[in-house]
Amino acid sequence: MSKEIEDHRVHNASGNEPFTSVLDRHVSRRSVMRGGLGLAAASMLGFGGVAQALAASGAKKTPLSLAFEAVQGARLDAVVVPEGYTAQVLVPWGTPLDGQASEWHEGLAMTPERQAHSVGMHHDGMYHFPLDRDGGSQEFLLALNNEYIDQAALWAPQGGPTAADQGRRPADEVRTEIHAHGVTLVHLKKQADGRWTHVPDSDYNRRYTSASVMALGGPVAGSDYVRTRFSPEGRLTRGTNNNCASGHTPWGTYLTCEENWPNYFIRREARERDDERLGIGRERGRYGWESAAGDASERDGEFARFDTTPTGADAREDYRNEARTFGYVVEIDPYTGERAVKRTALGRFRHEGCWPGRLVPGRPVVFYSGHDARNEYIYKFVSAAAWDPADASRPGESMDRLAIGAKYLDEGTLYVARFDADGRGEWLALTPDAETRDGRRLHEALGLAADDQAGILIHTCDAADLMGATPMDRPEWGAVDPASGEVYMTLTNNSQRTAEGTDATFTGDGEAIDEPGVGFATAPVNAPNPRPDNGAGQIIRWREADDATRFDWEVFVFGAAADDADNPSGLTEANQFASPDGLWFDERGEGDGILWIQTDNGYEGVAEHTNDQVLAVVPGALEASPGGAAVVNPGNQQALKRFAVGPNGSEVTGIFATPDRTALFINIQHPGNWPAAEDATRATDGQVRPRAATVVIQKRDGGPVGV
Ligand code: FEO
Ligand code: CA
Ligand code: CA
Ligand code: CA
Repeated sequence: MSKEIEDHRVHNASGNEPFTSVLDRHVSRRSVMRGGLGLAAASMLGFGGVAQALAASGAKKTPLSLAFEAVQGARLDAVVVPEGYTAQVLVPWGTPLDGQASEWHEGLAMTPERQAHSVGMHHDGMYHFPLDRDGGSQEFLLALNNEYIDQAALWAPQGGPTAADQGRRPADEVRTEIHAHGVTLVHLKKQADGRWTHVPDSDYNRRYTSASVMALGGPVAGSDYVRTRFSPEGRLTRGTNNNCASGHTPWGTYLTCEENWPNYFIRREARERDDERLGIGRERGRYGWESAAGDASERDGEFARFDTTPTGADAREDYRNEARTFGYVVEIDPYTGERAVKRTALGRFRHEGCWPGRLVPGRPVVFYSGHDARNEYIYKFVSAAAWDPADASRPGESMDRLAIGAKYLDEGTLYVARFDADGRGEWLALTPDAETRDGRRLHEALGLAADDQAGILIHTCDAADLMGATPMDRPEWGAVDPASGEVYMTLTNNSQRTAEGTDATFTGDGEAIDEPGVGFATAPVNAPNPRPDNGAGQIIRWREADDATRFDWEVFVFGAAADDADNPSGLTEANQFASPDGLWFDERGEGDGILWIQTDNGYEGVAEHTNDQVLAVVPGALEASPGGAAVVNPGNQQALKRFAVGPNGSEVTGIFATPDRTALFINIQHPGNWPAAEDATRATDGQVRPRAATVVIQKRDGGPVGV
């Protein structure tokens, strides 16, 4: 169930044609052009040992079929999995990572120190990094995002947070909350009995929190935009925040993505263009962290930095630029725990996540990313450096992975997507000399110097507006089929989409809402976002053209309640879903992977039947449908099957399987009354202090999951 932590205002005042108008006019779908398998096989050698098994086969296989018995919708304080499967709770919030944190118990009073040495709160995106010789099927390092917090659960023993909504927050409560955010790294191991456990005192266990010192990399690093009192040179910042979905690189690093970070900062006056465009507030941050500023124990403006109102003579004397050190994709070397680096070349916005494209030796490395807010955009980063397979991760060997990260992620071109109604699309480069849709140079249109790429990145969203990008229905997770290179992305919902024929409405300076510059309140439907007041969402798919600046797209599936009149994919009680969010492509070879879909639903038509869920479909088994219908349509919808259901109140998010596919890992975020036991399927009897947790789903017979 959606917790609605997002900022519901719409900040895109660009007037670009919204994606929904594009889909309505999208009549002919392009034929599916799957990539050559030889190329695909060669390309995947870097991906953590997963690819070897896939490289051998040359002939097109019969697609997999999903062999599990689909589960029914459920509304329980329990996880539901198919017959023949188990679900085990792992590393819930508060699990100690080393000897400096005491064991969890129901009445545990959390402290800054204890939280800094324990698993963080609200598990979200995650990925696995092998520690064994088996590509990580027996033992791996789990990198896990801790997106935000449940203050009621965090402060339950004292009856809730102090001064949550007004007044001064106590310094140690703020420090504890700061430490509950960020990223957890924890060593996991499969035991002889098939159950999984974390390794309590592993040297790999560590936290990156919203206080950890981090470096800036790429064009913004060292620029005037990011000088602060803490880092007058503009090279460092403290913390990563609202880490939502994840990503990973072929060289063995974790990418963690800063999503709803604007809500944590305020700026009372002297507001800048990007404060308005991104929606930084004026009054009180999400948890009021700035209110602890001036506490006698405060060090180096640890709380003051969340209020970016200028107070000093220049940027080196205050924190006016602090928020400009957030909004990035952050790279972590999970094996060494070195200082994390914010890769600014990938743009600054509410990054949901970051997904590597098909990897081809001698070609650039590509990453896809979406901005999760209403009527925002989809982006692609293309490295300047060509992929060298010698840079592929070699677990167990000493490598300077962050130096390799700098090579591929600090120099390159950031593009934004325009979806055309004819099923084509174009990637628009966000470079100073790019020609805007009204014929100007992008740097001039933004009022920047001719070589100011840093300025373009700080103002990524404005740049995308000027280039004519297509506003979308809240892009969430992406997934790439590494064999074909096809990219899937969830568009979770958009309550501010209006009917065909209506005009986009804007609320700029002095208009309907009392927030200058905040606007684009409603936008009419278009081709890839064709439904007004879109509560149920959809998933799109695209394929790159050879020159990598063009693509073909189509809608893969539309969410809906089974009894909705508007149910283009023909979903039934057995597979109805809404608000797709998490996504993972379980590659096994060409046409042979499972697309796993997770939901974060706030759509009543589905919510009254089931909690959030995990569904599975094998896209390679579906024929392209004629006439512009979604790939999943009433004629083949039974191929989409419900695999698992989460507990009451929760969102199901974060997903991967071990390389041998025998263990599928998911996260349960913000459960209402769960977990009751290590068995995730045991329904809670009475009331527990809720804890987000990772859940590992396995077959009782030890076979691969889903088939
Ligand atoms: Fe944190 Fe857009 O989900
Ligand atoms: Ca969420
Ligand atoms: Ca999400
Ligand atoms: Ca969501």
